[in-house]
Amino acid sequence: MQRSETSAAQEQNLSRAVIAFVVTGLLFMLLPGTFLGVWNLVSISNRHQLDSMSPAWIQAHGHAQIYGWIGTLIIGIGFYSLSKMGRLPRFAVRRAWIAWALWTLGATMRWATGIAAAEWRIALPLSAVLELAGYLVFFRTVSGHKPDPNAPRKPKEPWMLAVVASTFGFLLALLINVAVALYVALTQTSPAIPHALDQRLLAVPVWAFLIPTVWGFNARWLPIFLGMRAPRGGMLLRAVAAAFAGVGFSAAGLAMAAAVTFVVSAVMAIAALRVFEPAQQPAKLNGVHRSFPFFVRLTYVWLMVAGALTIRAAAADHAGGIWGASRHAATVGFLAAMVFAIGQKILPAFCGARVLFSAQAMFASLLLLNLGCALRVISEIPAYEGFAFAGFFWRVLPVSAVIELSAVTVFAANLLVTLYRPAPHAVAKQRVFA
Ligand code: HEM
Repeated sequence: MQRSETSAAQEQNLSRAVIAFVVTGLLFMLLPGTFLGVWNLVSISNRHQLDSMSPAWIQAHGHAQIYGWIGTLIIGIGFYSLSKMGRLPRFAVRRAWIAWALWTLGATMRWATGIAAAEWRIALPLSAVLELAGYLVFFRTVSGHKPDPNAPRKPKEPWMLAVVASTFGFLLALLINVAVALYVALTQTSPAIPHALDQRLLAVPVWAFLIPTVWGFNARWLPIFLGMRAPRGGMLLRAVAAAFAGVGFSAAGLAMAAAVTFVVSAVMAIAALRVFEPAQQPAKLNGVHRSFPFFVRLTYVWLMVAGALTIRAAAADHAGGIWGASRHAATVGFLAAMVFAIGQKILPAFCGARVLFSAQAMFASLLLLNLGCALRVISEIPAYEGFAFAGFFWRVLPVSAVIELSAVTVFAANLLVTLYRPAPHAVAKQRVFA
């Protein structure tokens, strides 16, 4: 009895740390990520030129979105999964807080260095080392966790292998980040990574970490949430392997080979996950808006759009417009929309068995995000590349940015209110003692 009370208290403490990761991720998404992205886009649109914008500011935005927002959420979910893997080790809660502190300090320092450039020769590599240290604390805790010895041993399923591969992809991205930060600090005249190197390496966090993580968790959750048939495991693993191969091509400067390989890997993942095949069971819509299955499937349409645009960019980009459109079809249309859809389903449950505050707000956030992303992707190419009606499309771009900002604000507000309200078990306890 005493033991189960202790482990329940430990689970509650771990749940507090998971909430800290979720809230930190949301704050990164709102201010350093999206607000700065909107600011950048409005400035670029006013001057009608991408080159007019400080590359350090653009990179600060990209880093805050990839690592500060989605990376922080994924580490939080990783710590949550510990509580579902059998006996929770005593040190797990302490480690979760240490990882949170190192990671948040590193990601904040990286953002501030890009914006203010103060003491950047020290702050840039230091921020990368702090992020790596925070991740290693997480990595050691999760990889060293021994499952309950009394539980039956099962072979690792393909979704787990995809998630494990993405965990190594995350580690690889952070190691490269340290090396690049040191290189910039020792050889450059500003905290910005040189453009050609930055473009080659951006594929690492996106295709070796974020996208395989989504595929792995989709393979686990979509059959449950959307009632889809079990995924084709072998095909899923081949899709992840192809994504890693594409990252290799990109790092080697083979942009077209990388783009084609990314498209092949995305097609394999769609087939493996059976995204567009009829569902076997009705979707589980408790706590979410009924449009949830539609928006999840729509993200994969965006992934294909991103793939097609990446091939086009490798062949014909002149002013960064096709690259920008392809990047945001992947990061906003696929990744952010996936986090909006799946996140509003699972995060309330992971943070103390809560229920999402408003399903209508969930719908509004997804609708606005997809609308803003569509306007952005459609307008960025003719505006940046100077095609016909470029003047008109330059005027649409800031509108797209404000719509995306509204989407992000509604999403964050919905989750923050959900987390602010007392968890159901706390309410039940209050009733017992009333
Ligand atoms: C939601 C509204 C967003 C806006 C308004 C926005 C805006 C921008 C702008 C103006 C740029 C400069 C390059 C270009 O013009 O294409 C940029 C670059 C970038 N954005 Fe976004 N963005 C948004 C969301 C996101 C999200 C959700 C992610 C990732 C999850 C992301 C990742 C990136 C990356 C990686 C870069 C390139 C950074 C570099 O060159 O190193 N953005 N964004």
